[in-house]
Amino acid sequence: MFSARKVLVTLAAGIFGVAVALAARNATTLPTITIPKHELPGRDGPTAVGRVAVGMSGCLAAACHGAPAGKLLNGERGDDCWQSSGSCWAAADPHTAAYSLLTENPRRTLKVTAAEIMAKYAPGTKATDNVRCLACHSNPTLALPDLIPDARSRVLREQGVSCEACHGNAGQWLQPHTAWKGDRKDVYEKTGMRPLDDLGERALACAGCHVGAPAEKDSEGKVIVAVRDMNHDMIAAGHPRLAFDFAEYQRRLPQHWQEKNRSLTTNRAITHNEAKVWYVGRVAHAEAACRLLADRATRSASDPVTPWPEFAEFNCASCHHNLRMPEGEKVGVGADWRRSDAYLGAEPEAKPPISGRPLGSPPWQTIWPVTFAPGIEFPKRDKALLADVIRAMETPRPPKADNAGKVAKTTAEQLKTKREALVLMSGPDVQRESWALFPKGAPLVPEWDSASQLFYGLVAREYSHGTPPKPIQDKYRAAVRAFRAQDWARPDESWGRVKDAFDALREK
Ligand code: HEC
Ligand code: HEC
Ligand code: HEC
Ligand code: HEC
Repeated sequence: MFSARKVLVTLAAGIFGVAVALAARNATTLPTITIPKHELPGRDGPTAVGRVAVGMSGCLAAACHGAPAGKLLNGERGDDCWQSSGSCWAAADPHTAAYSLLTENPRRTLKVTAAEIMAKYAPGTKATDNVRCLACHSNPTLALPDLIPDARSRVLREQGVSCEACHGNAGQWLQPHTAWKGDRKDVYEKTGMRPLDDLGERALACAGCHVGAPAEKDSEGKVIVAVRDMNHDMIAAGHPRLAFDFAEYQRRLPQHWQEKNRSLTTNRAITHNEAKVWYVGRVAHAEAACRLLADRATRSASDPVTPWPEFAEFNCASCHHNLRMPEGEKVGVGADWRRSDAYLGAEPEAKPPISGRPLGSPPWQTIWPVTFAPGIEFPKRDKALLADVIRAMETPRPPKADNAGKVAKTTAEQLKTKREALVLMSGPDVQRESWALFPKGAPLVPEWDSASQLFYGLVAREYSHGTPPKPIQDKYRAAVRAFRAQDWARPDESWGRVKDAFDALREK
């Protein structure tokens, strides 16, 4: 047994303890994954209009983005690394496995297979035919009911989360992007190539699948991008819950690009401040969550597979945590921690007093520091950027869909403004603004999500001083793995493993 307090004390000590460590980049050896070559059926299927997907075979040609990726895989990035971006992705990116996870031949070991999930989620049907599953495990523009039987679309879906799932369908930009003419931003806009050099746009692109996103429609109201919605039905059927942090996830991808400001006039190599990456990511994450909430509120009125309220939006521990206190040392702020002021966000001593979440209402998800997080001083529950959404969702009776949807929509717009402003600010300025939100000393964090999110933020702060040496990175990963462990429902055990990782860090 141990206390959450001790975990966090160790956490802070561990991270600050390595602040002076020298940066070193180690070569990583990664398994090679072969992507089968596909023969594309004719181009006249239903997707042959507008911004069609063309698939990745073309991108991977040796003269395009398919040059040997040895340097990139070793973390060496130069002006010419675009030539091997595709091979780097094919050799080492986790997204190469995305589609295979839905099949009987997943490309990595799984805790739960698609067949097991489907047996509970939609018995008698296959994940590879299910638009909800395909929307995140392949290109979401190809996960539409009328494209399911289409042979060409199926071949492209089998490429999984490949180039176009992030960069946008290439139908209109494939040709222009080989010889940039005019303003790049303008070409992006006109052809549908995603401006991924903008950190905020990039974080939203990832959040589309790692948080979720509403369907997108064309001017005639026809759905052209499928809804991406990880709900409690899928989680209860065995799907891992999504616990995203943009900075953390991005660091885990083999980076197949050189960071650049891609406006035509500069196109200069730059380095992003990791604290900025983190904060922009958190705001974009919250924006995505609000848009999804607003969409769920609307959809639930007519869609039989969209429940209201959606349990996956609430703190899992509010319904699933073992109600009995473990024997011995207390976890967090006390035996009745779920009624504590810290967990409720109440501050009776404040002037005027803050009453916090009404008892009996499950807390909405934590997206610190855009929401309040139990045990962390800032932001206050009713001062956080997401305070209105929290108030609309945290009611002892089921929240009203119309009202929550409206509030979430307005808040998403405010967050968009905030995200765009942050992207324009200098790294050091964003770093200063976000650092002011971090707790001083060792806060009492009584709850899993708050602790993990604080941890991600602290690690990003650490990286903003320079990449830590490999052994330290490994320790961070061990802690992240423990935080991401799917046996979160057995907190005693998982806390133990997190604590071990922090202890190891401190000893460094
Ligand atoms: C909103 C996007 C989204 C939807 C919808 C979705 N997935 Fe996933 N799925 C993911 C992501 C992201 C991961 C990886 C999770 C991580 O590591 O963060 C994943 C992981 C998995 C895994 C690996 C589990 C393991 O043991 O590691 C399987 C299997 C899987 N999904 C199957 C499915 C099936 C079947 C469906 C449809 C019922 C589905 N997914 C719907 C995004 C999604
Ligand atoms: C998970 C999302 C994702 C996937 C999948 C993906 N990319 Fe990228 N790619 C990015 C991001 C993010 C950037 C950085 C954007 C920027 O700087 O403009 C990038 C940048 C690039 C660059 C610019 C390299 C440079 O240094 O100038 C090329 C070329 C590229 N990607 C090609 C590909 C190819 C080819 C594939 C498929 C084989 C692919 N990408 C798949 C996210 C992705
Ligand atoms: C079209 C949907 C989609 C998009 C867009 C997307 N991802 Fe993913 N991502 C997935 C799926 C599905 C998986 C699960 C693959 C697996 O676990 O093998 C995944 C897995 C990952 C993993 C590995 C997770 C693990 O368990 O180790 C990382 C890291 C990741 N994504 C980061 C990103 C980042 C960063 C971006 C944006 C630049 C991004 N993803 C964009 C769908 C997507
Ligand atoms: C509002 C309450 C509530 C919230 C919040 C909630 N759940 Fe559930 N969950 C339930 C109920 C009720 C069941 C069904 C229990 C049963 O059928 O035995 C369930 C079932 C499950 C199951 C299946 C358990 C089993 O033994 O089969 C899993 C896994 C699960 N939830 C995970 C989560 C995760 C992860 C979250 C947070 C993202 C979450 N839940 C949020 C109420 C909730």
